[in-house]
Amino acid sequence: MNLTFQPAARLAGTVTVPGDKSITHRALLLGSLGEGAARIEGFLDSGDCRATIGCLQALGVEIERPQAETLVVHGQGLRGWREPEDVLDCARSGTTMRLMAGLLAGQPFASVLRAEPQLRRRPMDRIIAPLANMGAKIAGREGNRLPPLIILGRPLHGAKHALPVASAQVKSCLLLAGLYAQGTTTVREPGPSRDHTERMLRGRGVAVQSAGLTHSLSGPVGRLDAVDVRVPGDFSSAAYLIVAALLVPGSEIVIRHVGVNPTRTGLLNALWAMGADITLENERDEGGEPVADLRVRSSELHGTTVGGELAPRMIDEFPILALAASQAQGETRVRDAAELRVKETDRVATTVAALRALGAQIEPAPDGFDIWGGATLVGAPVDGQGDHRLAMTLAVAGLIAQGETAVLGAECIQDSFPGFAETLGRVAGGAL
Ligand code: S3P
Repeated sequence: MNLTFQPAARLAGTVTVPGDKSITHRALLLGSLGEGAARIEGFLDSGDCRATIGCLQALGVEIERPQAETLVVHGQGLRGWREPEDVLDCARSGTTMRLMAGLLAGQPFASVLRAEPQLRRRPMDRIIAPLANMGAKIAGREGNRLPPLIILGRPLHGAKHALPVASAQVKSCLLLAGLYAQGTTTVREPGPSRDHTERMLRGRGVAVQSAGLTHSLSGPVGRLDAVDVRVPGDFSSAAYLIVAALLVPGSEIVIRHVGVNPTRTGLLNALWAMGADITLENERDEGGEPVADLRVRSSELHGTTVGGELAPRMIDEFPILALAASQAQGETRVRDAAELRVKETDRVATTVAALRALGAQIEPAPDGFDIWGGATLVGAPVDGQGDHRLAMTLAVAGLIAQGETAVLGAECIQDSFPGFAETLGRVAGGAL
């Protein structure tokens, strides 16, 4: 599927974005292990979350959809999953595979996690090796590096893990395995990755201790409370609307009910440092997660430097930051973001190639890129490379590029932001 975009006059209005992907995955997984039924309101109905739902159903979990936006997960308790009759399909979802592997490692049965080609290229040694240190038996392709994964569930013991990269998927995998492990599981991360798992486990009665970047829990845990969740809008989806409104002159939009957990909103810090006019309104707490409405007005941006602890707090937002930087005055430098190389695509390479094709001045670095702002973008056919975050970045580029921009392979946007084009069209006053 291709989407075409023309220059937009101005963006205006109030919109919402679909539910948070990370929280939806975790609400499903933890809900399935809880003591009784839990409602998940405003869940993200995307390809990635459907993979998690499919895996849970194959493990014998009943999931109903009483309303379009609501799921009810019938928790079976921590020891209620059934041995699956067939392989579990993680499709294109890294979060599904890595979190599911942590939970399956300590089950009293065997399982196989399969993946589509895009996910089959993503590193799994980062979970296989530390899970093995807890006594897990897991094998993957190419020397235990790549999916699919074969898991022979067995009793686990706690271990101390020092992660080489800041990754919420790895941290969550190990803490979830720790629920079933004898003794204490400790995870030290080198930077602040998203902390939804820690918050949600605590909300369900598990004593997760966090001291700075070190998190631990003691197992085996007997039960998880069943807790209803109202999923906030995904900040990572709001990011495209934020940058669109900043870049299209004369714009002012409000994005309501967005999750603003500080481990997720590094893009705001980067954009504020660039001079962006973004304000948080109605800041509130919902089920242990901070939520706000975001008001964004178009702004003259200038270059900045992004690195260090900021990088993991905006790890999914680098393609859209690169676009913003291409329109800023001066140079923007991104470093300490080598993890971009192992996302849905090598996002250093694909972002550089796609933005260059539209006329941006951008150079790759091993762990980031340099962008010289002030480029005039010219529309062209550009391929999303099967990467939802790249495809949405190119769509926003299409609102400011001269002429027509065609985003090829735009169906991947469904992985995280169903209704993206419609939402963008709404703030553009139907001008798209
Ligand atoms: C996620 C963690 C991040 C992020 C991904 C979702 C999660 O991945 O990029 O979109 O829900 O835990 P890493 O853990 O690989 O950084």
